Amino acid sequence: MLVLDAVDLFADGVLRYMNVVLVGSGAREHAMVWKLRQSPRLTDLFVCPGNGGTQALARNLPIASSDLDSICRAASDHKADLVIIGPEAPLALGLADRLATNGIAAFGPSRAAARIEYSKAFAKQIMAERGIPTATAHVLTSRQEARDFIETSGERLVVKADGLAVGKGVFVCGSRGEAMEAVDILTASDSPLGKAGGTILIEERLSGREVSAHAFTDGRRVSPMPFACDYKRARDGDEGPNTGGMGAYSPALWLDEAMEGSIHQNITEAAISALVAGGAPYKGVLYPGLMITAEGPKVLEFNCRFGDPEAQVLLPRLNSDLLEICWATANDRLAEAEISWSTDACVAVVLASGGYPEEYETGYAIAGLKSVDPDVLVFHAGTTRQDGEVLTAGGRVLTVVAKAPSLSEARAAVYRNVQRLHFTRAFYRRDIAAPSENARTD
Ligand code: AMP
Ligand code: GLY
Repeated sequence: MLVLDAVDLFADGVLRYMNVVLVGSGAREHAMVWKLRQSPRLTDLFVCPGNGGTQALARNLPIASSDLDSICRAASDHKADLVIIGPEAPLALGLADRLATNGIAAFGPSRAAARIEYSKAFAKQIMAERGIPTATAHVLTSRQEARDFIETSGERLVVKADGLAVGKGVFVCGSRGEAMEAVDILTASDSPLGKAGGTILIEERLSGREVSAHAFTDGRRVSPMPFACDYKRARDGDEGPNTGGMGAYSPALWLDEAMEGSIHQNITEAAISALVAGGAPYKGVLYPGLMITAEGPKVLEFNCRFGDPEAQVLLPRLNSDLLEICWATANDRLAEAEISWSTDACVAVVLASGGYPEEYETGYAIAGLKSVDPDVLVFHAGTTRQDGEVLTAGGRVLTVVAKAPSLSEARAAVYRNVQRLHFTRAFYRRDIAAPSENARTD
């Protein structure tokens, strides 16, 4: 790997200072804004649409992340040298391709490559082609077909919507009855998932610990990040419904180092090379979600962007300049970027609105933001600012993150600070990176 001095990276590009547009509005995007702000190369930073947290560090533009026309227009009006795309939805709509057509560099894969996330059936096809280990799955295109299939299956099944469902299209079932119910929910004419549930995957239910692998790639160099673990269920002890993610930690010290190398090579690199060979350019982050089973690591899903809340525990561990990495990725020069990681640990706890991931109320004042320790990070997700107050405006509201030499110190710091934050009906998990999971953490 060629590692040039940071100054050399831009020596021939003459692009020493950059205007950037970042797309998204979650705590992941607030973490990206916070990290980009540390770059000496950054001039103006705009966020479409951002949240109450990004507003303090950048200029929020009232443009939805699905409004591709307005994002492209804003990027050219504000002379953006780079657009960084946080969430999957605009990638699935083809934002990176549209920007490329307009001559604007983008950090984020093409629509053809993002398909690895927005179609689980396509992801399975890529994995079958490349021998990437994953749960055996059947793709079914109607309710009846799915029900007939379940009749002939075992009891331990996972029922998934093929398309994007913000973490809510997966049902892990313990009986055929539950699997039937899941099929009915996904195929209901008033399904909240709309077309995402039209095609269904029914998979064997795996057991093991979960881990999130992430890598930066420009389609040629693949640079792995440290591993992270997130907590998808709403309640302690992995109870309750699946959510977008309620907490995370990194590193995953329980993971065998040899296995890390093999995941990188046989899963992450293999998938990127399959996409690129299939004519789907990949520039951005690929994040395979894995389960470490008794038979080794198996892929649960591929994501075409940073995880949320994984980004909130990874970016504080990144020693290098995120803006340089994103620019190098977008311009096929990742091989020249310096990428190094801190050995410190990070723990993140999400504060959510009571009722999330189902119905919840918004508009409550958030108290205690000024009482948080100076070295603890509070990334906003569903927040807005009004008359000098920060109000709740979404399901996941804040991610509180602490960094320390060990996971147990980071965990103690994060929970000490979470307790200082208040809003009506706030809830959070109390078992993120818990000592009861010692083998899992320290
Ligand atoms: P996905 O969106 O596909 O990652 O699924 C969300 C969550 O459902 C995962 O993080 C797992 O906890 C669980 N899950 C998905 N697929 C399986 C599987 N085949 N076996 C067991 N659990 C699964
Ligand atoms: N943490 C899960 C996700 O971002 O998909």
